[in-house]
Amino acid sequence: MDFGLAGRTTLVTGATGGIGQEIARAFAAEGATVALGYRNDRDGAERLARELKDAFPVRYALDETGSAAEAVAVVRERCGGPDVFVANAFGWGRRRARGVRFEEVPESEWGAVVAHNLAPVVRATQLVLPGMRERGWGRIAFVSSHNAFGGQPGQEFYGAVKAGLYGFARSLMWDVGPDGILVNVVAPGLTLTERVRGGLPEEIRERERSRTPTGRLSSPQDVARTLLFLCSAANGNVTGESITVAGGR
Ligand SMILES: NC(=O)c1ccc[n+]([C@@H]2O[C@H](COP(=O)([O-])OP(=O)(O)OC[C@H]3O[C@@H](n4cnc5c(N)ncnc54)[C@H](OP(=O)(O)O)[C@@H]3O)[C@@H](O)[C@H]2O)c1
Repeated sequence: MDFGLAGRTTLVTGATGGIGQEIARAFAAEGATVALGYRNDRDGAERLARELKDAFPVRYALDETGSAAEAVAVVRERCGGPDVFVANAFGWGRRRARGVRFEEVPESEWGAVVAHNLAPVVRATQLVLPGMRERGWGRIAFVSSHNAFGGQPGQEFYGAVKAGLYGFARSLMWDVGPDGILVNVVAPGLTLTERVRGGLPEEIRERERSRTPTGRLSSPQDVARTLLFLCSAANGNVTGESITVAGGR
């Protein structure tokens, strides 16, 4: 299948993370130039850029106003894009501790999770759109989570952000569709990144696996390939959709 990505530029935020690295590799393998968004891990972004050859690091911090504008300007100057924008980065913040009720979480803890993960995606999307409209072609994808739809105890703030991305895409599709721009959401289930392997006890991963119809948890590559299709020329008319990558969960 021709994904039509050769000569196109993809901006991937959070490209130093477990899923982000695989997204970058998937687009690079199809001949796209990849702008690798990183916040702290500049070394990781440079390493990945050397591996992929037609890729370069670009600093992008969700929690710094002005960062998205700088990142998009760098991408535009270097290669005219982006033609594809994958909003994958997430600043995790603190998880609600066991025994703490929802209403007891101070805004000093949850405020940043909501403010620094939803509004920056809206802002960055505004910035990438003018170029896509000029070229009459663009693909945008937001990485959400299947918890946005199924819910998960203790993940109220995360869920609010991730479900917000879906609502955003459903409305945005009307404004951008006539200009050849498709906007979709990918919602991974628990995905076996290094962070998940290292941070989640084996018995919890096993419990989750046993509740998954396919009998396995998603790999970062599973998520990346879904994004690749949605953000390619092979996707002719799918927009405003959310695809869950969770083995049937
Ligand atoms: N892994 C899962 O099981 C799972 C399940 C459902 C959904 N997801 C979603 O998939 C996406 C990727 O998750 P992941 O597991 O790959 O995460 P990860 O390995 O923790 O990587 C997070 C990425 O986000 C970047 N980042 C963190 N804070 C940032 C900030 N304030 N501004 C800009 N970038 C920032 C990090 O950059 P630096 O390292 O350079 O700072 C890193 O590249 C997230 O949106 C997550 O919600 C993941």
